[in-house]
Amino acid sequence: MKVQINKNTTPIVSPAVVVSVGTGDESNLITLAWVARVVSKPPVMSISIRPTRYSFPILEDLKEYVINVPFSEHVRDVDFCGTRTGKKVNKWEELGLTKEKASKVQVPLIKEFPINIECKVVQTMNYGSHKLFFGEVQAVNVAEELTDDGKLISNKLDEIVYIPRNYHSLKKEPLEKQGFSVKL
Ligand SMILES: Cc1cc2nc3c(=O)[nH]c(=O)nc-3n(C[C@H](O)[C@H](O)[C@H](O)COP(=O)(O)O)c2cc1C
Repeated sequence: MKVQINKNTTPIVSPAVVVSVGTGDESNLITLAWVARVVSKPPVMSISIRPTRYSFPILEDLKEYVINVPFSEHVRDVDFCGTRTGKKVNKWEELGLTKEKASKVQVPLIKEFPINIECKVVQTMNYGSHKLFFGEVQAVNVAEELTDDGKLISNKLDEIVYIPRNYHSLKKEPLEKQGFSVKL
């Protein structure tokens, strides 16, 4: 037996990330959950933003963004950047976050966050309430302690998962390795 819930609630995990946009003093931070990897080759990410956001015209102008991936310890930063507008508050300063120079884009990375994905917008699409910005990945920066010989150690990642309307932790051992069913 299943019950149908409101179709506006899609119970599937999304990441909770803080995206940086703009350069210098204009740079702003916005929390996003509508974020996904959408193409394998080349690597392309998609983010969806409402045109009413302060970050929106800044992103449209520069056509670059950085996906800063928080860990559990950064959950307050995530909530703050998703409930305050850059129109009224400098989120970098309020949260004491440090702008770090990116390698391939002009937008700064959040130094304190362990993973930063640098993207350049290659396509956009308006649909309903949001505009989708497809960004080709230019560089993926990962804290050294999360890697071994340049490879990611997935069970060290303590990323935040957003399941409407809560933040969850990923702090569990992986169930299995991708591809494990092929060998059965
Ligand atoms: C967990 C969470 C996820 C969010 N996801 C999105 C999103 O995907 N797209 C969007 O436009 N706004 C999203 N928001 C809302 C914006 O982060 C929020 O309106 C923010 O204050 C906008 O900042 P700005 O005005 O400085 O650009 C989300 C907020 C939270 C708390």
